Amino acid sequence: MTAVATPSQGVLTPHLEIVGGRPLAGSIQVSGAKNSALVLMATALLCDETLTLENVPQLTDIGGMGEVLSAVGVSVEDRRNGTLVLDGSGVSHAALPYELVNGLRASFFCIGPLLGRLGIAKVPMPGGCKIGARPIVEHVRGLKALGAAISIEHGVVSAAVPGTSRRLTGAHITLDCPSVGATETLLMAAVLARGTTVLENAAQEPEVTDLANLLIAMGARIQGAGTAVITIEGVERLGGTRYEVIPDRIEAGTFLLAAAITRSCLHVSPVVPEHLSAVLTKLQDCGCTIERDGRGLTLRADEIHAVDLRTQPFPGFPTDLQAPFMTLLATAKGTSVVSETIYENRMQHVAELQRLGASIRTQGSTAFVEGVPRLSGAPVTGSDLRASAAMVLAGLAAEGTTQVQGLQHLDRGYDDIEGKLRGVGASITRFNP
Ligand code: EPZ
Repeated sequence: MTAVATPSQGVLTPHLEIVGGRPLAGSIQVSGAKNSALVLMATALLCDETLTLENVPQLTDIGGMGEVLSAVGVSVEDRRNGTLVLDGSGVSHAALPYELVNGLRASFFCIGPLLGRLGIAKVPMPGGCKIGARPIVEHVRGLKALGAAISIEHGVVSAAVPGTSRRLTGAHITLDCPSVGATETLLMAAVLARGTTVLENAAQEPEVTDLANLLIAMGARIQGAGTAVITIEGVERLGGTRYEVIPDRIEAGTFLLAAAITRSCLHVSPVVPEHLSAVLTKLQDCGCTIERDGRGLTLRADEIHAVDLRTQPFPGFPTDLQAPFMTLLATAKGTSVVSETIYENRMQHVAELQRLGASIRTQGSTAFVEGVPRLSGAPVTGSDLRASAAMVLAGLAAEGTTQVQGLQHLDRGYDDIEGKLRGVGASITRFNP
């Protein structure tokens, strides 16, 4: 529900206005995982039957991915209740239009399935973003190992399988780094390849396992998903299925941090605790108590003290919760050291936190966070998706009013965050002046 547009405090861009200092209470709902739903949608390119995805979050990126898939012939029906019905029987050509792809990195997920299904793909380079260069070296190296000839010209990655069969051939691939996107791309390319593919040093994120589970439900033969070694035995074709997206562990972590930073008691569900082990450990280490029930978690926070954080590939601490967790540590007792090892430029939220009164010093991708008794509200801007979420958390705790700008980032990854937080007692209103 968009409030009547009345610019507050002179902030003239779309923003969330948050009056801080209010405790949260009750239960908050977690949507389906953005970083799973986007790649699951791409599997529609692999089969000529109906794929029904449930528990899909309502996000701008999901809509964008639907447009990209439609552009290459997938029919996409959004039933608006979290259910997407996709049909890849009409997939006819393999060139993605630049204007749709630009800014939607997830569209690069199409290259693997298009190569696997058609033996050809032309996908614009995803390009970098504010948090880092976001290279695709591992994706390209692996696709070449599977037999694709690849050229990159004028910002477009053109891939084709030589020969009349146009079918990829299984290979033994060792990734230089456990890239989530490369693992997912190579999984989708290998499921229809001739022979067996082994991926070593594969990413172990829950979203990779979710993708493998969907592919298996479609008829793929995959073993080892969720570990560092995944084996795929190519099959002739895949069929349609109905599949439910896993809960979003990063959204769940964000809401647990909202409870912690407001020193509240809050129920968050659904949550798969195993998807958040490293985060739950750090929350307990800094003073939170966490109780599990059938579908969710209840976090209670009174006093928060400093803990050190170091982001790592799963099952280590997730980089996507680094900025939100740092925001909590900005209000903790003591000094915490936060190290970002995944991205080269994911400390941009520090300057905005300092505007709210946080005491943080950075040295490259390491931040020394000296907790302060209280943050004070001010207009701030989120520079990327998770930095924007961090600003919302800061606003919930800050004294006075905070205006969070950069909603174009926030709406990519959080489904109605203000409605969900308002439902548990936050004073948070969206303004679209
Ligand atoms: C996925 O991005 C997520 N996005 C990101 O979430 C998440 O931060 C990231 O995985 C890590 O967990 C989606 O799933 C849509 P990567 P992806 O390939 O696949 C290095 C969010 O906020 N690398 O694992 O692009 C490079 O340093 C977003 O929801 C190479 O060196 O992540 C990169 O920074 C942000 N060479 C790091 O790995 C390569 O060829 C992580 O990249 C590929 C990656």
